Parts: sequence; structure tokens; C-alpha cells
Amino acid sequence: MISLERYPREIRLRDGAQLTFRPMIREDADRLWDFFCRIPAEDKMVFREDVSRKEVVERWAENLDYASVLPILALEGDQVVADATLHRNRTGWKQRVGTIRIQIAPDFRERGLGTAMIREMRHLGEKAALRYLRAEAIEEQEAAIGAFEKMGFDRMGVYPNFVNDQKGRLHNLVVLLYPMPYSEVEMNF
Ligand SMILES: CC(C)(COP(=O)(O)OP(=O)(O)OC[C@H]1O[C@@H](n2cnc3c(N)ncnc32)[C@H](O)[C@@H]1OP(=O)(O)O)[C@@H](O)C(=O)NCCC(=O)NCCS
Repeated sequence: MISLERYPREIRLRDGAQLTFRPMIREDADRLWDFFCRIPAEDKMVFREDVSRKEVVERWAENLDYASVLPILALEGDQVVADATLHRNRTGWKQRVGTIRIQIAPDFRERGLGTAMIREMRHLGEKAALRYLRAEAIEEQEAAIGAFEKMGFDRMGVYPNFVNDQKGRLHNLVVLLYPMPYSEVEMNF
């Protein structure tokens, strides 16, 4: 179980904007829904789930299980401006590999928030004793690939025509990995 004592956590962007990071709670369903309504359609084309349906967001809020998916929200006042999730397996051969996903509201992009949220995910990955953090993006999501690479993720491979968007068009999937800074001894846990 990751300690969540550090939340709520206040952060300041380089332009002075003040935000709060905290885990999503059940009561955030409407706030998260408002957030996804502000995400451009082209970004939603490559979402894993259809967030244009409110029941999808409500289901997430109803079924929160931080050990499996830990969603960290960035809020400005009462408004959600970003959502980052850390996905983990409790058991099995990938239990020390976490997958992260990040979504920033358009008016908060290119202000350093993505960097701050990836750093937050790295911190949580360390607390969870993960061995690797993994991120995925389609090749066209250059901003995302750049943001992950800037934070130490390596592009490990490209799966050609691996994923489809909501219109059925195929895209190359880029897989990025961040090795957590553990010793070889620790690796054998
Ligand atoms: C990808 C995303 C999370 C980046 O967040 P952000 O807050 O804009 O990122 P930052 O301002 O911290 O920028 C970090 C780095 O990302 C890269 N980057 C950001 N925007 C970029 C753009 N439009 N084009 C190219 N590179 C870009 C740069 O390397 C930048 O570093 P720099 O500021 O030193 O140049 C955000 O753009 C987003 O939510 N995009 C849509 C969803 C998405 O693609 N999610 C990723 C799939 S998990």
C-alpha cells in the first residue's frame, strides 16, 4: 500500500499558477466529467475508454481501488486541470511494472504541469517499490513522447499499426520505459 500522507500537495507552476495534487475520490465524478468535456475530440480518439459517456467516469469513481489504479488529480481551486493514473498488478510477473497515463487540460499544457505529474508518478512508483514505469503513446503524440523522454523514459519499441482510434484508423504505438533507480540486489526482492 502506497502511503498517501503527502496529499493534498500544493504545487506552483513556473508561471505562478497554484495547484493541488491529490488522489481522486468518489465525490470527484462530476469534476472529472467536466474535465473530460474540455479535452479536445482528437485526444479522445485514442483513449482506452470512451470518456464521452458520463457513466464511464461515474464507474471509475464508484470502483476506486488505489492498489490497482491510483488516479492523481491536479486541481486549480475546485476545477480538475489534469489527471494522471498509475496502473499496477497486485500479483504475477508484472507486479513491479507500473503503467502511467497522463492527460492535461489544453489551457494547462506547455506550462510544466506534465513534467510535474510525471515526477509525481515517479515518486509514487518508488514508494510502491516498482522496478519500471511504462508509458504508451501513439507516434503522433509527439508532446507526450517528448515529455516522457525529458523525464528519463527511453523509447523501447514501436509496434506498427498496433492500435486503432475511434474511427478505426491504425496507429503505431510507442512504448517507453523508465527504470527505477534500484540496486541489482533489490531487483531480486
Ligand atoms: C503530453 C502532455 C501530458 C504534456 O504535458 P505538458 O504539461 O504540456 O508538458 P510540459 O509543459 O511539462 O512539457 C514537458 C516536455 O514535453 C515536451 N512537449 C510539451 N509540449 C510539446 C509540444 N507541443 N510539442 C513537442 N514537445 C512538447 C517538451 O519536451 C517539454 O519540455 P520543455 O518544456 O523543456 O520543452 C500533454 O500535452 C497532454 O496531456 N497531451 C494530451 C494527452 C497525451 O498525449 N497523453 C499522453 C498519453 S499517456
